[in-house]
Amino acid sequence: MSILVLGGAGYIGSHTVDRLIEKGYDVAVIDNLITGHRLAVNSKARFYQGDVRDRNFLEQVFNAEKVDGVIHFAAFSIVPESMSDPLKYFDNNTGGMITLLEAMQAHHIKRIVFSSTAATYGEPKQIPIKETDPQVPTNPYGESKLAMEKIMKWADAAYGIKFIALRYFNVAGAKADGSIGEDHHPETHLIPIILQVAQGKRDKLKIFGDDYPTKDGTNVRDYVHVVDLADAHILAIQRLLDGGASDAFNLGSSTGFSNKEILEAARKATGQAIPAEMAPRRAGDPSTLIADSTKARKVLGWQPQYDDVEKIIATAWNWTNSHPKGYGDK
Ligand code: UFG
Repeated sequence: MSILVLGGAGYIGSHTVDRLIEKGYDVAVIDNLITGHRLAVNSKARFYQGDVRDRNFLEQVFNAEKVDGVIHFAAFSIVPESMSDPLKYFDNNTGGMITLLEAMQAHHIKRIVFSSTAATYGEPKQIPIKETDPQVPTNPYGESKLAMEKIMKWADAAYGIKFIALRYFNVAGAKADGSIGEDHHPETHLIPIILQVAQGKRDKLKIFGDDYPTKDGTNVRDYVHVVDLADAHILAIQRLLDGGASDAFNLGSSTGFSNKEILEAARKATGQAIPAEMAPRRAGDPSTLIADSTKARKVLGWQPQYDDVEKIIATAWNWTNSHPKGYGDK
């Protein structure tokens, strides 16, 4: 089976490309390399540099490739940036989805898995969050992804394009051998920032807020290992290739860790002191986000291999140590 991966040079995309190839799929990758890294793409995948919004470019790729299914990661994902520049997010994320679906429809490609997010739920009414809970985003990033989910729904109704939306919670870690990992510019995520402090690249961690209604006052998040997440995409696209219906799944560990607990786990995983101080709340942070991932386990047969956050952090630390400058291309 041939899978086209858009955004396959990004953090989650590159791990998914790698797992697809390990599992024997034929893979082509599209990435504009704005945030992605050419070196992150498994050398057995065919690579096309271009933009999801460029219909002529997509035509060239669809003419050159025999595509059975699409996995779509190509999107911007920094929440604070989406607050200050929402149109950038609606243009690239939501607009890109429309162009992609037009090209798929023209080429009779009827299956797509795409990266949605816990940010589509907004401030949850109940924990853990279920797929059927209200989706009321509190930022343009989440809104752009919710719009993508809705566009997919109507594209299914009208053209029969089947989709699976995977709503990620907090993704972390790296391939166990340390050959690929997370390399964002700028870095805004908790675990890579903690590891930059451990490396001596930053003086200290600032923990944003300790007055939330949680066990220790800091935000609680649900961490899932990037390779487990990659495997969920493969189960999802295979389900669609086997004739499965359109659907949506939460992907998390169903366990919550506070920011202070993550810091402690990182101190253990790295053996470093990792200085930290409390700082004011960051705008738009929900207090607690924990997934109910029962549906992905039952319906997709998803069995995450990493159930220990310290082990997840250890894989990220392994990547950070072997690639102190990341991919070195930005
Ligand atoms: N945090 C700090 N200090 C930092 C960085 C982060 O205290 O220097 C805190 C944040 O305030 C938050 C927690 O660490 O409480 C996790 O923050 P991240 O930025 O790592 O992740 P988020 O939970 O904000 O967001 C992630 C993805 C989003 C997605 C969201 C959905 O980055 O794309 O999960 O759960 F929308």
